[in-house]
Amino acid sequence: MCGIFAYTGEKDAEPLLLEGLSLLEYRGYDSAGIFMPGKNLVKTSGAVTELRAKISKSGIEASAPSHSGIAHLRWATHGEPTEKNAHPHVDCTGDVYVAHNGIIENFRELKEALLKRGHTFKSETDTETLAHLIEEGLTVGKSFEESVVETLRQVRGTYGLLISYAKEPDTIITARMGSPVVLGIGNGENFIASDATPILKHTKDVVFLNDGDIAIVTANSYRVRTLKDESIERPKETLDWDVSEASRGGYPHFMLKEIFEAPEVLRNAMRGRVIASEGKAKLGGLESVAKRLEKIDRIIIVGCGTAYYAGLLGEYLIENLAGVPVEVELASEFRYRDAVIGKNTAVLAVSQSGETLDTLEAMREAKRKGALSLGIVNAVGSTIARETDAGVYNHAGPEISVASTKAFLSQVTVLALLGLFLGRSRKLSEKKGIELVEALEKLPELAEKVLAESDAIKAIATKYRTARDFLYIGRKWSYPMALEGAIKLKEISYVHAEGTGAGEMKHGPIAMIDESFPTLAIAPKDSVYEKTVSNILEIRARKGPVIAIATEGDTRIEELAEDLIYIPDVLECLSPVLSAIALQLFAYHLAAGKGLNVDKPRNLAKSVTVE
Ligand code: F6R
Repeated sequence: MCGIFAYTGEKDAEPLLLEGLSLLEYRGYDSAGIFMPGKNLVKTSGAVTELRAKISKSGIEASAPSHSGIAHLRWATHGEPTEKNAHPHVDCTGDVYVAHNGIIENFRELKEALLKRGHTFKSETDTETLAHLIEEGLTVGKSFEESVVETLRQVRGTYGLLISYAKEPDTIITARMGSPVVLGIGNGENFIASDATPILKHTKDVVFLNDGDIAIVTANSYRVRTLKDESIERPKETLDWDVSEASRGGYPHFMLKEIFEAPEVLRNAMRGRVIASEGKAKLGGLESVAKRLEKIDRIIIVGCGTAYYAGLLGEYLIENLAGVPVEVELASEFRYRDAVIGKNTAVLAVSQSGETLDTLEAMREAKRKGALSLGIVNAVGSTIARETDAGVYNHAGPEISVASTKAFLSQVTVLALLGLFLGRSRKLSEKKGIELVEALEKLPELAEKVLAESDAIKAIATKYRTARDFLYIGRKWSYPMALEGAIKLKEISYVHAEGTGAGEMKHGPIAMIDESFPTLAIAPKDSVYEKTVSNILEIRARKGPVIAIATEGDTRIEELAEDLIYIPDVLECLSPVLSAIALQLFAYHLAAGKGLNVDKPRNLAKSVTVE
């Protein structure tokens, strides 16, 4: 949710910290703050631009450079997004500074006790309690490290923490419990961040901390320990990510850039994973659990938002290809509803970030009950990726825009590969397998064709820019797409949109239809085409305008829909990949046309690490 970034080394910390924060802006952005030992704390409501302006005004730039510092971008959970509540938070002495991603669950009790002991609080946040608790340790003569450890022993909750102590300016202590922390290991300098994106420019050598780890980081060293006084070795890994992958590359928004990455993303999801001549999928990430997978008789897919909709397609794909029963559940429901899990059940967590707390906890709950835990994750080294028994990476590259686009395409592709993988060891014939592989391999080229329609889709989106509501309908493979199309539109354009199964329309939603209520019908020429066409006719009979996503060459639908977006013909079960691109472009152009901040919609954050 929030973003943290820290530096300790020989360079001037300020520009590095500000740059690090701006690369983390997609994680959370309602307020920001920075502390560098020897300089005043600067905080602001708003994002990095506001922070930069405030630093210039404060005059702290004029003083001698500081060689370390901690910085934070906040997405409010406790307390309003004001300057006062922005991080870092400071203790009573003005020496201890804490930036925190996560939630301290028992902060009320801790705060009450601290108030009784005479501490004064400057914010309404849970985080400030940590600064005062550390202060108490230091006051009774404990070391910086001991004071932090003692404090963390008292707290319950989640944290990715940065702590700076003005009297030991070269040292930064960081700790992880439920919120990601990555160390970037440089030459005579070290970095700490909530993910690797802002570190890559400086070093590709990283150390991922585990829950319960505390790291003591200086310019030339890092040491990892636990709350129990044990020191631990965490391996250094070298990431092969390209930093330019994380920049906009000439597009007006990351979202558009990421939509246009579709062909490459599809290729990356399939690279090295298909044996075309045998119609088989080869998923190296599942090899370690191959024996258990053979016995699996039920799969539960868990995810949130767009990842959940990808899961719905996964259900259709896996049942269709492999005949294994699949259920899909919202992770936030599954984890609390006491689901029955058998020993031959696999739980599959689908998550771009690999950090979505509800998905992570749903997966942990299933694992506790004995399920085989699997993941389809994009962020390498993320918590879900590390905690599942086995899984498949998306390799879609960093997704910066808050709305998930390329990751969805990749998730659906990997789910199709999983269906093929399970299917070929069960009921799926070689012929059907080969047919699917051939269709999958054509997808990148077909995706190019949909992308080439971007301007035409923009013209349609412009026409509907003032609509206040939208209904999205689809059947069978296009039903999850109706849900996905609607979430995409509402989250970035703030236009009310509702997705429903086309067959469900008569059971309620059709009552809303009139000439001012457009419907986006996903109606490719598939096995349920005729049924969807009947639903379009029902809408037209009530004067509702219809935009249809249809298969190239379908002339019949021209008479029914006011506006048409054509997608190429493709194997029925893969049509969602192509309609998804059209739906993403429609939502993007409608929101961008309204002049909205498409990449960072209000009230949303990229990585949802709170419940
Ligand atoms: C919608 C969107 C969200 C995410 C959801 C899960 O465009 O981006 O609905 O899909 O928050 O996130 P991950 O995949 O990171 O678990």
